[in-house]
Amino acid sequence: MRTEVAIIGAGPAGLLLSHLLAQDGIESVVLETRSREYVEARTRAGILETSTVELLDAVGLGERLHREAAEHRGIYLQWPQERHHLDFVDLAGRSVWVYGQTEVTKDLGRAREAAGQAFSYEISDIALHDLTTEHPFVTFRDADEREVRLDAEVIVGCDGSFGPSRAAVPDAEKSTWERTYPYSWLGILADVAPSTDELIYAWHPDGFALHSMRSPTISRLYLQVEPGTDIAQWPDDRIWEALAARLGHGQHGWQLTPGPITDKSVLPMHSFVQAPMRHGRLFLAGDAAHIVPPTGAKGLNLAVADVALLGPALTAMLRSRDTRLADAYSDTALRRVWRCTHFSWWMTTMLHTSGDPFDAELQLSQLRWVANSTAGATGLAENYAGMPIGF
Ligand code: FAD
Ligand code: PHB
Repeated sequence: MRTEVAIIGAGPAGLLLSHLLAQDGIESVVLETRSREYVEARTRAGILETSTVELLDAVGLGERLHREAAEHRGIYLQWPQERHHLDFVDLAGRSVWVYGQTEVTKDLGRAREAAGQAFSYEISDIALHDLTTEHPFVTFRDADEREVRLDAEVIVGCDGSFGPSRAAVPDAEKSTWERTYPYSWLGILADVAPSTDELIYAWHPDGFALHSMRSPTISRLYLQVEPGTDIAQWPDDRIWEALAARLGHGQHGWQLTPGPITDKSVLPMHSFVQAPMRHGRLFLAGDAAHIVPPTGAKGLNLAVADVALLGPALTAMLRSRDTRLADAYSDTALRRVWRCTHFSWWMTTMLHTSGDPFDAELQLSQLRWVANSTAGATGLAENYAGMPIGF
């Protein structure tokens, strides 16, 4: 098999890149270890920045989003007895949208299928070859266990944090930075109307809690828990009790309405960056190159921002033999990656309790400043709603 761009991974980064390339007349093949159903059902991110929505609109993927997603002006930041609304539209001129990654992936999958995109789902044993030559290729076993070789002009690793692409860059050619946080999130989906109009980020002595949502009838909530927490230790009643305590049920008349829990998982909290995001004819995008803890809602948006740069860069490289954008890709993308890495680290360390009383006083002082100073609130708003692409 031969194509122009071999894309490894059918998450948001890989699917959107295939869409952007196709709009410029560039052919690609998308390779994915899982089934399409599995990829589309995976509960992950839920918040889209303005620049993500603008890009999806510009490439014809915004129709269902505008019908079904909720536009939020901001978030609530809270600590015991106090809840403050930060209005991103007033502070930074931008809003955010509540639209699940599952829905973004479904919209992308349908658009790519309608356009006749070449996919290979449920592949195994993928290996990357000859990356520093002009004739790179990948080998893999397809769903019917046949061995396949796919030759390409360029290979793009969009295979997330567990894929083989980032490891295909030799150690001598890369730098990595990593931070593992001493807490995890227990996340639930519940069949109950959200008890809030916009997301609530809550600092509490028992640990952080977040009230998010997916639709007018589905809530998504998170609790800070110990790393390695066994989900069996958290029956539904215990989860709702902890959420009620940390989110301030009963304070100033606010009530948290519990409901049937349909999904429950524990997520580790991690920061990771690998640079450069290119090795010869291999380019990395999304979680394959960087991971942020979810507190800033940046992971999906950063994956979209990478491919927004990479699409035009590959088009110029393959159509006009102009490599300037491709040569600049890694440095340009990493500026936003480090901005989001800092913001996600900052939100995470401001809101999660460590058990250290000195840390707790600093966190509360910082929260008061962010909520009550226009300068503090604007910094959070600009970063959360997202810096413009290219910042
Ligand atoms: P992914 O979505 O990870 O896609 C990579 C794809 O590559 C996957 O489909 C994978 O199956 C495939 N793949 C892996 N190995 C191979 C291989 N060998 N060959 C072919 N394909 C391969 N972000 C938030 O902002 N908020 C959240 O609440 C949130 N929750 C998350 C929960 C979890 C459990 C995880 C893992 C991430 C979460 N994130 C969250 C982060 C966000 O979902 C990611 O940043 C986003 O999915 C990145 O998109 P991507 O396309 O780069 O990677
Ligand atoms: C989510 O809805 O899953 C979500 C929202 C905001 C975050 C993290 C996750 O910061």
